[in-house]
Amino acid sequence: MPADPIKRGAFITVEGGDGAGKTTLARALAACLVDAGHQVRLTFEPGGTELGNHLRSLVLNPDLDLSDWEETWLFLAARASHVSKVIRPALQDGEIVISDRYADSTLAYQGFGRGLDLDRLRRVNDEATQGLMPDLTLLLDVPAKVGLQRTRARTSSRDRIGDAALAFHEQVNAGFRELANLSAGRVIVIDAARDATLVRAAALKTLREWLDRQLGDSPGVAEPGSADQ
Ligand SMILES: Nc1ncnc2c1ncn2[C@@H]1O[C@H](COP(=O)(O)OP(=O)(O)OP(=O)(O)O)[C@@H](O)[C@H]1O
Ligand SMILES: [Mg+2]
Repeated sequence: MPADPIKRGAFITVEGGDGAGKTTLARALAACLVDAGHQVRLTFEPGGTELGNHLRSLVLNPDLDLSDWEETWLFLAARASHVSKVIRPALQDGEIVISDRYADSTLAYQGFGRGLDLDRLRRVNDEATQGLMPDLTLLLDVPAKVGLQRTRARTSSRDRIGDAALAFHEQVNAGFRELANLSAGRVIVIDAARDATLVRAAALKTLREWLDRQLGDSPGVAEPGSADQ
């Protein structure tokens, strides 16, 4: 896949198992970056486009019986739409894109969780993303049981993937950690079992250091508290 020669922004993803705190953190990071004067596009998967939102309701529908590859293709169709309609245009406009989940989720859930072939998943991911990988990934690591307790405390609505057995979610989490080991330069693991304030502080520290290295004279990242958290 050709690399995008006119990419100017930065692409950051937040990954982790169900209930790890991804959405909470992605919103907080976006608010801090906006406060510091950055142009930020906060987005999420599956979703972020009209097609993606339709596909999200399909893949999460507990009454729909999907094979593992049917599930995978739905996520990938959503991702292809997300990359071409949201992420790439925002990067080309020089924005900092923060995506709540992205390609690593496919490898962790459908690869390590469902047991599909990882090399094939990498190839189809590469097709769907046109080779676009994040510049930085914050991986929120929390025991599966804790994450599921958090999501179940938040909502009683059923979710085809969230409702899977604990063992499945443990495999997904182990998969994420393995992916972090394989991509140590891109993926930073954050202990997300701690209080949300501590998770946010750790993530902001990492992000600040990373942006200082990447963007040089950029506005940096505002201290939490100056933004509406
Ligand atoms: N560090 C934390 N400690 C305790 N609770 C948290 C923490 N972070 C987030 N929460 C709470 O846990 C619930 C799940 O958080 P959140 O929605 O951010 O997780 P998520 O990773 O986006 O979940 P999902 O995988 O379902 O999208 C929310 O009610 C949130 O307020
Ligand atoms: Mg979420």
